[in-house]
Amino acid sequence: MKWFAFLSACLLSLAPLAHAQQAPILIRFSHVVATDTPKGKAAEHFRQLAEQTTGGRVQVRIYPNSELYRDRDELEALQLGAVEMIAPSLSKFGPLGAREFQVFDVPFMFPDTAALHRITQGPIGAGMLQRLRLKGVIGLAFWDNGFKSFSANRPLRTPADLAGLRMRIQPSRVLDAQMRALGAQPTTLRFGEVYDALASGVVDGTENPHSNFYTQDMQDVQSHLTVTDHGYLGYAVIVNRKFWEGLPPDIREALEDAMQEATRYASQIAQEENDRALEAIRASGKTQIKVLTAAERETWKNALAGVGAGLETYIGAQLIADIRRTMAAP
Ligand code: LMR
Repeated sequence: MKWFAFLSACLLSLAPLAHAQQAPILIRFSHVVATDTPKGKAAEHFRQLAEQTTGGRVQVRIYPNSELYRDRDELEALQLGAVEMIAPSLSKFGPLGAREFQVFDVPFMFPDTAALHRITQGPIGAGMLQRLRLKGVIGLAFWDNGFKSFSANRPLRTPADLAGLRMRIQPSRVLDAQMRALGAQPTTLRFGEVYDALASGVVDGTENPHSNFYTQDMQDVQSHLTVTDHGYLGYAVIVNRKFWEGLPPDIREALEDAMQEATRYASQIAQEENDRALEAIRASGKTQIKVLTAAERETWKNALAGVGAGLETYIGAQLIADIRRTMAAP
């Protein structure tokens, strides 16, 4: 009996040790862009915070640059539990049945980042993330990249200059309509394929914020870029629902805090990163940059004015009305 009590005491005293030695909870975070982009940097910031604040009970392993999965594959991998966390561009949520996310693709919908944040960081954004639960994933946050520019191998001074060009798009019906409204031919390609497609002439041009353009060396294969700021490109960070709901509550809370902080960081650096990338593109001397005057911008706005209206029912008329009302409120 004494021996039994002694043995139990020994085992009990070892319990905390066993806990401390447990393998950390692994979060595999897959994404498709370079590490020195707003998304790449925010992911790294999240990794540091998550590992620090959980005292190493969580380990975040980041797979950038489509190293592990490419655009649509990463969505499937997340649903299957092959990775725990991804942050796809908002244009890529179609396969999840969440086409309302394409509202962010509507040209000239958001006048600036402050207006956009009223949506992504407010109740409308929270509602959109909440609705993703029905698709088996949990939406944790919206992360910024920024506004897009058009590029090609000829000057794009007016909207008519895109006529006849094969333009790469992300898989979004709104972006498809946008390119058609300009007389261009949209071609859906994964992000990791864009450089080669531009180099080989499979497509003639593309659109992206400057950080994505520069970190993929697109200045080597695009002679002209026009700063149009015609549409927004951002991300939703999503996790596998079963994984997230199975986490110990204290860990989940610590990760939610780390995510909030990483989101603030992404908002803070995104514009800077894109400005710096534009300067680097200019300095490369390979791509001529045109910045629109206010009057020229109006011409682009007019050329694209019908795109959102034509797809209101598809995206969700109520959502569009709510967004407009929220942005117009004092
Ligand atoms: C693209 O495919 O152009 C972008 O969405 C890539 C990204 O994740 O920023």
